[in-house]
Amino acid sequence: MKRFSILTLLLTLFLSLGACDEERTMSERGFRLPDGNATAGRETFLYMHCNQCHTIEGEELPPIPGFDPFVELGGTVTRVKTYGELVTAIINPSHKLANGYAKEVVSEDGKSKMYVYNGFMTVQELIDIVMFLQPHYEVVPPEFQYRVYP
Ligand code: HEC
Repeated sequence: MKRFSILTLLLTLFLSLGACDEERTMSERGFRLPDGNATAGRETFLYMHCNQCHTIEGEELPPIPGFDPFVELGGTVTRVKTYGELVTAIINPSHKLANGYAKEVVSEDGKSKMYVYNGFMTVQELIDIVMFLQPHYEVVPPEFQYRVYP
């Protein structure tokens, strides 16, 4: 029994060290893209037809005939949409699906319905779009429902 638990301990230690190592080498620490240009970002957003599926809170976007946007970007969120989250939402859309939508509306087989632009979107276009989108998010504190006991 004792031998078994030492073995388990060693194995757990080994596995957790492995996980730490992966965390360290795959960490986003130190990651920083240069600032983009919001005006250019708006143009890129339209040029890439992001408005085929998206509206943006507080922004008048020309409609694309035949398409009905179904995911709104910007608006009130209960926690900060960070730069990193926005970049990730664009270049790795299935990593974390947008909140507030039924899964079947925004995804198929667990994958986001959003196109993957990585093959032809330049880094400049990406940072411009993010610069354009970020100010459209307004952070509001989450509303808590307190249960009142009689
Ligand atoms: C074919 C439809 C479609 C197109 C075109 C599209 N998206 Fe999306 N996008 C989605 C869907 C569906 C979601 C929600 C699921 C998810 O989070 O990936 C989404 C989510 C997002 C989110 C995260 C929203 C949140 O609140 O978490 C961002 C940011 C975004 N898209 C940006 C873009 C940009 C920028 C473009 C153009 C380069 C684009 N999208 C083009 C369908 C699309």
